[in-house]
Parts: sequence; structure tokens; C-alpha cells
Amino acid sequence: MPLNTYDNQQAGEAPFISLKDMQMEYQSGSKTLRVLENIDLDVNTGDFICVLGPSGCGKTSLLRIIAGYENATSGEVKIDGKKHKGPNADIGVVFQQANLFPWLSVEKNIEFGLKMKKLPKSERKRIIDHYINMVGLTEFSSLLPHELSGGMKQRAAIARSLATEPKVILMDEPFAALDSITRQSIQEQLRELWKQTNKTIFFITHDVDEAIFLANRIITINGSPGTVTLDIENPLANKIEEASDYRDLKGYNELRHLLINTLKNREAPLSQNLIKAKIAAAE
Ligand SMILES: Nc1ncnc2c1ncn2[C@@H]1O[C@H](COP(=O)(O)OP(=O)(O)O)[C@@H](O)[C@H]1O
Ligand SMILES: [Mg+2]
Repeated sequence: MPLNTYDNQQAGEAPFISLKDMQMEYQSGSKTLRVLENIDLDVNTGDFICVLGPSGCGKTSLLRIIAGYENATSGEVKIDGKKHKGPNADIGVVFQQANLFPWLSVEKNIEFGLKMKKLPKSERKRIIDHYINMVGLTEFSSLLPHELSGGMKQRAAIARSLATEPKVILMDEPFAALDSITRQSIQEQLRELWKQTNKTIFFITHDVDEAIFLANRIITINGSPGTVTLDIENPLANKIEEASDYRDLKGYNELRHLLINTLKNREAPLSQNLIKAKIAAAE
């Protein structure tokens, strides 16, 4: 039975993304590989969801289905209440490798999607300046991708995605290739950006700490085929800002162990109340 301890009634509106009893299978020759099963998942407007799972559990497949690049084998996938019909402007995607156009400068990369939207030049410039500034690349706007560090490339990719103003941004392990110091700083910036823009973010990671630091809601997927094993509010989400190091927060170790055990064992899922009680007991 799929687990869903997250009560989406609390948001009081229909989820922007809704998956019901979704299955995904790939055909290779005469063989069928089932990679995801019984996926029940709602993404509400304003959520910062981290989907946490080991490699090979189907995270990228899930993201590609939500992006509209692939069709689920069975089940229901709805975006904004309507059956999902393929990629659309409401859904932006940021990949692990920043896949910027290598022959275009940072600002031209950001401008690309705005030209596709047929915005006039003055409007394009205003939007480009706004988002380049937001990701701290103003001084580097005329550089080409190969002249940027890994972290700067990802910031440019995030700005490019934000500039077209999608309702939700899907991110597939976008910081996995960065060194740990750059990664920490870009995580802080993304968190800040989420607060400023109130965007809905669906962020995939295999890093437990990254999920704890970023998400207001954490979903674990594991097993083969992958399925949702835990779906909880992040009990530390509101305390992270005040902490100089979130790893010192009371309840951090308990949450971390809970997530790791769930990923390792697919252990009997805990209810939301029990999780809250466990974290509270640690305080
Ligand atoms: N297009 C595809 N065709 C066949 N098998 C695939 C395809 N994409 C992914 N897979 C397989 O599906 C499983 C899950 O892959 P993926 O969704 O990339 O997982 P993750 O992102 O969690 O590492 C893997 O076994 C992978 O080899
Ligand atoms: Mg992947």
C-alpha cells in the first residue's frame, strides 16, 4: 500500500501536480523493466519538495514524467487539474549538468526562452537584469558558459529557468557535481530564492542533508521498482534559518536516522504524528 502521511488538505487548494497510482515501465527488447510503481504524489503550490532516493530508484524517470518528456505506463498524471499532455511553459527544468547553450553568453542564454515567448526587447532586458542579479551573476553576464565555474553555470541555468516564469521548477540533482563548499553556498541561495519568489520547487537528490536543508516537505522513494516510502513535512524547515548550522538543531540526528533507515530498509512507515513526536522528544 502506498504511504502518504502528508496531509495535503492543509493547503486548502487543489495540488498543482497530482499523480495517482502511477506506474512506469521501460521496454528493452522482449523485456519489461518496471521502475516505478504505486506512485501517489501531490505537489502543492509553494511547496519546496525534495525527493530523496538512492541512484537507480527511478527519480529521473519520475521527473521526466512530470516534465512531460515521458508518458507513465499507467495511472493518472495531472498538471493544474488537467491530464498531462507534454512539456509546457508552466514547468521549468534544471538538470544536473547545466546544459546552457555553449555558444551563447549568460544573458543570451537567459534571453533565449524570452525570445521564444516573443517578449519585446525592453521587457526581455528588464527580466534578464532582474534574474541575473538575483543569482548574483551581474558582473558575469557577458561570459560564455566555458568561462564560468560549475556553481556559476548552475546559477545561470536557474536564472534561465526562472526567467520564463514557470509555475513549478523541477530540478534533477542540480548540485550533485559541485564541490561541497560551492554546493552549500548555492543551496543557501536557492533557499533564499524560493522564499523571495514563492515558486513551487520539486527537487531531486540522493543527499539526505541536502533534503533536510532545502525542503519543507521530504519524500523518500526506494526499492526496485521504486515506490514512495515516506512523505513528511520537514519538522526542521522553520528553524533552519536561525541556526548557524542546521546540523546542530535538536531533532536533526533523529530526522537524519529516520530518513536513512527508511531508504535502507523500507522500514514500516511512521505516521506524521509519530515523526513529530520523535523529533519533539529529541528537543
Ligand atoms: N529510457 C530508458 N530505457 C530503459 N531503461 C531506463 C531508461 N531510463 C531509465 N532506465 C532504467 O530505469 C531505472 C531507473 O532509472 P532512473 O530513473 O534514471 O533512476 P535514478 O534517477 O533514481 O538514478 C534504472 O534501472 C535505469 O537503468
Ligand atoms: Mg537520476
